[in-house]
This record gives sequence, structure tokens and C-alpha cells, in this order.
Amino acid sequence: MRYVTVLSCIVLSIAGAGCSWLDDRPAPYTSAPFTAQAHSGSPRLTTARDTLGAAVNDFFWVKSTPKQPIEFPHNTHVEKGLACTEYCHEAVTKGPQAGLPSVNTCLICHAAIATDRPRIQQITQMSEKGIDLSWQRVYGFAPAAHVRFNHAPHIRANVECATCHGDIAHQTVAQRNVDHNMGFCVTCHREKHAPNDCLTCHY
Ligand code: HEC
Ligand code: HEC
Ligand code: HEC
Ligand code: HEC
Repeated sequence: MRYVTVLSCIVLSIAGAGCSWLDDRPAPYTSAPFTAQAHSGSPRLTTARDTLGAAVNDFFWVKSTPKQPIEFPHNTHVEKGLACTEYCHEAVTKGPQAGLPSVNTCLICHAAIATDRPRIQQITQMSEKGIDLSWQRVYGFAPAAHVRFNHAPHIRANVECATCHGDIAHQTVAQRNVDHNMGFCVTCHREKHAPNDCLTCHY
């Protein structure tokens, strides 16, 4: 099976598609823009990718398992009483993106807390060297799906984080618990009488 994967990768490379998806990681969070918000102004609404390679890359980008720069224990922090919207995902109530914390955000607490632990020493060293945490995307839409998403109206309408992200409060590293397919979105929009025409979610 691995052979087939490698072989098709070679074939696709020749076709100019590249093998970046072979290492099983989506692009680093910091360099991958939120494609859901990256409005190109294109009026097109199409499933077509320009090349087979682009389709393959989209597929693996969306489905691959992210490997985070540090194993961040969500559960520990939630148990200590920290809310998702404090420090780490503050932007979620204000606009499209939830935001992800920089290493300096961690050090607001970890300059003093648990400084003897290896993972904390790791982030302290990163900060000293000026290296930031390159979080990998857990969610996101393939650029060709032309989806737009905005957190803020959902938070205002009291949709829980867990409805769309599952029980991250009891997990360590964030897992992709929920499949954000179109049916998932439109079913709730229908139930809650939220706008449900194509251009609500697509550009
Ligand atoms: C608001 C304060 C606060 C912030 C911000 C914070 N943490 Fe923590 N963190 C804690 C507390 C409290 C603990 C529990 C320490 C203990 O076990 O005594 C902890 C525990 C941890 C642990 C487990 C340490 C171990 O090995 O036992 C890791 C890893 C960690 N934090 C990483 C991070 C990272 C990475 C960030 C930034 C993305 C971060 N923390 C941001 C307060 C914070
Ligand atoms: C209505 C569903 C919904 C709700 C409610 C929701 N999210 Fe999201 N969240 C999404 C979608 C969809 C994405 C991917 C968006 C994109 O690619 O632009 C996302 C992305 C994220 C990301 C970036 C993850 C990654 O690696 O891609 C974080 C962090 C996040 N949400 C945190 C939160 C928090 C915290 C809450 C609650 C305060 C919350 N979300 C509520 C749907 C939701
Ligand atoms: C659990 C219910 C629920 C789910 C799931 C959900 N939404 Fe929503 N959505 C809402 C509600 C409620 C609103 C707020 C409507 C309002 O402000 O009147 C909303 C608003 C929006 C808006 C803003 C609409 C506007 O013009 O004001 C967008 C865009 C959107 N949702 C996209 C999505 C996408 C894309 C998904 C799937 C990834 C999704 N939603 C999943 C309930 C949901
Ligand atoms: C409430 C939000 C929402 C509405 C309304 C909505 N969509 Fe979607 N649609 C999505 C999301 C999210 C995806 C991406 C699903 C995924 O990545 O699995 C999607 C995917 C698609 C795709 C597949 C794109 C691709 O290249 O993979 C097509 C085609 C599509 N939608 C067409 C439509 C049409 C036509 C309408 C209006 C009748 C519509 N959508 C209304 C949220 C929505």
C-alpha cells in the first residue's frame, strides 16, 4: 500500500503536484492562511480543482493528522479553571478566527508555573531563541471548497464550542472530533433559522 502511495506521489511529482502531503502534515498554521476567510473575490462556486495534484493535496491537507510542536494538555488547563476564550482563543468572540496562542502567551503563566517540567523548559527555550509555536491546523476547508466561516455570530447565538469541536476540555492535544461537512452546517442553520442560502457560507 505504501508502495502505491509513494509511486503515485512520484507520478504526481512528475505532473508537478509535489509530494508535500507524503509527510502526513498539513501546512503549519502560521504560514497557512485561514482559507475559509481568504476571500479571493472570485464569483465562482465550483468543485473543480485545477489539477489532480491539487485535489490530492486538498484531500490530504484536510484529512491528515496534525503533529503539534508541543503536546498541549487542554484538559489540565480547563481543570485549572481556564476558559477557552481566556488568553488562548480570545479572538473567537470578536471575529472569524478563534486565534491560537503564541509562545509568549504561554509564558504569561509559565514564566513562573511548572518551570521544572521538560515541556515548559522547551517552550521557555523557544521563546529565548525567538521561535514561535507553529501550530498545525486541526480544522479548515480545502481552498477549492470556497467556504467562509465566522466564529463570532455563533458565539453570540450561544452555540457551544463543544457542538462544533467535541469534548476538547477532556483531551490533551486537540483532536478532530467533529466532521465539518456541509450537512453538519446546513442542518443546524435550518433548525435555528439561521441564513441558509449558498452565499452565506460560500464565496
Ligand atoms: C493562565 C495560565 C496558563 C497559561 C496561559 C498556560 N498555562 Fe500551561 N499550565 C498552567 C497550569 C496552572 C498548569 C498546571 C501546572 C501543574 O501541574 O502544577 C499548566 C500545565 C501545563 C503543562 C503540563 C506540564 C507538565 O508536564 O506537567 C504544559 C505542557 C503546559 N501547561 C503548556 C502550556 C502551553 C504550551 C501554553 C501556551 C499555549 C500554556 N501552557 C499556557 C497554566 C497556564
Ligand atoms: C458553529 C461551529 C463552531 C463553533 C460554535 C466554534 N467553532 Fe471553532 N471552528 C469552527 C470551524 C468551522 C473552524 C475552521 C474554520 C476555518 O478554517 O476558518 C474552527 C476553527 C477553530 C480553531 C482553529 C483550529 C485549527 O487548528 O484549525 C480554534 C482554536 C477554534 N475553532 C476554537 C473555538 C472555540 C474556543 C470555540 C468556542 C468559544 C469555538 N471554536 C466554537 C467551528 C466552530
Ligand atoms: C449548532 C448550530 C450551527 C452550526 C453547526 C453551524 N452554524 Fe453557522 N450559524 C448558526 C447560528 C445560530 C448563526 C447566527 C445567525 C444569526 O446571527 O441570526 C449562524 C451564523 C453563521 C454565519 C453568519 C451568517 C450571517 O450572514 O450573519 C455563517 C457564515 C455561518 N453561520 C457559517 C457556518 C458554517 C460554514 C458552518 C459549518 C462549518 C456552520 N455555520 C455551522 C448556527 C450554526
Ligand atoms: C451553512 C453553511 C453552508 C451553506 C448554506 C451551503 N454550504 Fe456548501 N459547503 C459548506 C461547507 C462547510 C462545505 C465544505 C465541506 C467539507 O469540506 O467537507 C461545503 C461544500 C460544498 C461543495 C463541495 C465543494 C468542494 O469543492 O469540496 C459544494 C459544491 C457546495 N458546498 C455547494 C453549495 C451550494 C450550491 C449551496 C446552496 C444551495 C451550499 N453549498 C450551501 C457549507 C455550506
